[in-house]
Amino acid sequence: MGSFKIISIFVLVVIFFPSFHPKCGASASAEEAAALFKWKASFLNQNNSFLTSWKLQSGNAKNSSVLPCTWAGISCTDGSVNRLNLSDWSIKGKIPPEICNLRNLTHLDFGINQLSGPIPVAMGNLISLQFLYLCQNNLTGAIPKSLGNLTNLIELYLYENQLSGPIFKEVGDLKFLTDMELGENQLNGSIPISIGNLSNLKTLYLYKNQLSGSIFKEVGDLKFLTDMELGENQLNGSIPISIGNLSNLKTLYLHNNQLSGPIFKEVGDLKFLTDMELGENQLNGSIPISIGNLSNLETLYLQNNQFSGSIPPTFGNLNRLVDLKLFHNHLSGPIPSAIGNLISLQLLSLSENNLTGAIPKSLGNLTKLIELDLSDNQLNGSIPASIGNLSALKVLYLDNNQFSSSIPATFGNLNKLVNLTLYQNHLSGPIPPAIGNLISLQFLYLYQNNLTGAIPKSLGNLTKLIELDLSDNQLNGSIPASIGNLSTLEAGGSKAFP
Ligand SMILES: *[C@@H]1O[C@H](CO)[C@@H](O)[C@H](O)[C@H]1NC(C)=O
Ligand SMILES: *[C@@H]1O[C@H](CO)[C@@H](O)[C@H](O)[C@H]1NC(C)=O
Ligand SMILES: *[C@@H]1O[C@H](CO)[C@@H](O)[C@H](O)[C@H]1NC(C)=O
Ligand SMILES: *[C@@H]1O[C@H](CO)[C@@H](O)[C@H](O)[C@H]1NC(C)=O
Ligand SMILES: *[C@@H]1O[C@H](CO)[C@@H](O)[C@H](O)[C@H]1NC(C)=O
Ligand SMILES: *[C@@H]1O[C@H](CO)[C@@H](O)[C@H](O)[C@H]1NC(C)=O
Ligand SMILES: *[C@@H]1O[C@H](CO)[C@@H](O)[C@H](O)[C@H]1NC(C)=O
Ligand SMILES: *[C@@H]1O[C@H](CO)[C@@H](O)[C@H](O)[C@H]1NC(C)=O
Ligand SMILES: *[C@@H]1O[C@H](CO)[C@@H](O)[C@H](O)[C@H]1NC(C)=O
Ligand SMILES: *[C@@H]1O[C@H](CO)[C@@H](O)[C@H](O)[C@H]1NC(C)=O
Ligand SMILES: *[C@@H]1O[C@H](CO)[C@@H](O)[C@H](O)[C@H]1NC(C)=O
Ligand SMILES: *[C@@H]1O[C@H](CO)[C@@H](O)[C@H](O)[C@H]1NC(C)=O
Repeated sequence: MGSFKIISIFVLVVIFFPSFHPKCGASASAEEAAALFKWKASFLNQNNSFLTSWKLQSGNAKNSSVLPCTWAGISCTDGSVNRLNLSDWSIKGKIPPEICNLRNLTHLDFGINQLSGPIPVAMGNLISLQFLYLCQNNLTGAIPKSLGNLTNLIELYLYENQLSGPIFKEVGDLKFLTDMELGENQLNGSIPISIGNLSNLKTLYLYKNQLSGSIFKEVGDLKFLTDMELGENQLNGSIPISIGNLSNLKTLYLHNNQLSGPIFKEVGDLKFLTDMELGENQLNGSIPISIGNLSNLETLYLQNNQFSGSIPPTFGNLNRLVDLKLFHNHLSGPIPSAIGNLISLQLLSLSENNLTGAIPKSLGNLTKLIELDLSDNQLNGSIPASIGNLSALKVLYLDNNQFSSSIPATFGNLNKLVNLTLYQNHLSGPIPPAIGNLISLQFLYLYQNNLTGAIPKSLGNLTKLIELDLSDNQLNGSIPASIGNLSTLEAGGSKAFP
């Protein structure tokens, strides 16, 4: 890094700018041009078309004070570079320490390039910087502590690199910071408590790193925070109650960590929350009733935890909810009938719990549902005919329950259905011929029930079918020859297929 290979260009720079020193501190835009030109020479792809205006023409050399200011990607104030924006220019190279010659920079954007190597320590000299975007590159090494000197920073974007080591605690000195985006790196160690000092912070993105330790309670001091994304790390301990103070919060992503303990009831104070993802942790206790206050909620993911108790009927207030995932917990009790109020719902997954009772008829109100998964519970009673109203459904999983009585003929309305599983229940009666209307069906599993009667001829309409399993029933008759190109056909165990 910083050792430039193209000697002839270096000589040119020295001839035109004899006063140039690669040390920081000197001023003049001639020097800025020299520093930039020298950097360009170090790019592996310097004949990149974005960079054609970056040249030191001999005719213009005496007017060097305007030079870098006329180049693409650069703006100046009072003849000195204040903005450098090379975003998405396909630049392959390293960031040289000489970047610190651009003393008056307020905006630096090298995002979406192929920069590699470390962030130079000398960047800590760019004390006028307000916007520093180095995101979506291939930068490695630790984030230099010297960035803590950039006390005018408003936005710091370092996401999607390969930065490693800890988050420098000096980050807490960046008092004007509103956006800190460090996601998708390999940062480790704990989240510095000093972040609690960043009282202007709105966005805190630390997702997809290897951060460990607990979430410090001072996070509750960040009263302007709207987005907190800490998912996909190795955070442990409980979710601090102080998060309930973040009254501007819209997004709370803590999924895929090792968080334990309950969700505090103060979560219900986060009135502006639209997305809450806490899945893939070890959270336990019951789901707080107060979640029903979050009337702006669109996404609620609590899957793969150890929540117990029942689904609060207050969920019926969440009428903006689009995606609800509660699968793989220890939830018991009935599916509250109030769930039928969630008319925006597209995805409802309650599978792998201990839910009991019948499917509420009101579920038939959720006409925007695309995926309904109630499998692996202890649900019983008959499957309500109103399920036939869910005409947008592509996936319906009701397997592994204790449903009895017959398959409603209204299932014939579900003509977008791709996957239908009803296996391992106690369903009886015939397969309704209307099943032949489900012309999009690819996977149909009805095995291990008590279905009787003939296999309807209309099954021959299901030309997209890939797998059909009717085994372990008491069906008779034969599978229509016209049926789709089956890769798996299981009909054994039915009377007709010994
Ligand atoms: C920065 O700007 C000041 C005044 O605006 C000027 O005196 C100084 O030379 C500039 N620094 C550089 C490195 O151009
Ligand atoms: C410059 O472009 C030419 C073709 O346009 C290519 O052959 C050459 O490899 C490029 N040089 C660099 C350093 O990218
Ligand atoms: C130097 O640049 C300025 C501003 O662009 C221009 O007005 C002036 O004519 C140039 N002088 C020479 C000698 O090229
Ligand atoms: C750089 O330019 C891109 C688009 O050309 C813009 O989206 C981005 O905000 C700019 N960066 C800065 C720091 O102003
Ligand atoms: C980033 O580096 C990795 C290996 O270190 C390499 O495989 C990858 O192609 C690089 N990506 C870019 C965009 O340069
Ligand atoms: C950053 O500031 C500290 C004092 O706060 C100083 O000692 C250090 O040299 C500065 N680092 C840089 C790279 O400017
Ligand atoms: C962080 O990762 C480095 C290796 O990249 C390792 O040496 C160090 O012990 C890790 N620190 C923590 C706190 O895990
Ligand atoms: C369901 O309840 C039974 C009996 O109370 C228990 O043994 C089982 O572990 C529970 N299953 C789940 C997924 O919570
Ligand atoms: C929801 O479903 C129930 C039971 O099927 C019905 O009585 C009620 O009118 C429905 N509500 C709406 C808003 O459709
Ligand atoms: C249907 O089920 C198959 C097999 O389990 C799966 O690969 C496919 O993704 C499912 N289709 C949809 C739309 O979920
Ligand atoms: C099928 O029905 C018989 C007789 O009613 C009953 O003994 C058996 O348990 C039922 N099987 C299933 C899988 O429901
Ligand atoms: C479905 O199958 C039945 C019986 O085989 C046939 O009468 C009907 O026309 C078919 N419907 C469609 C939409 O193909």
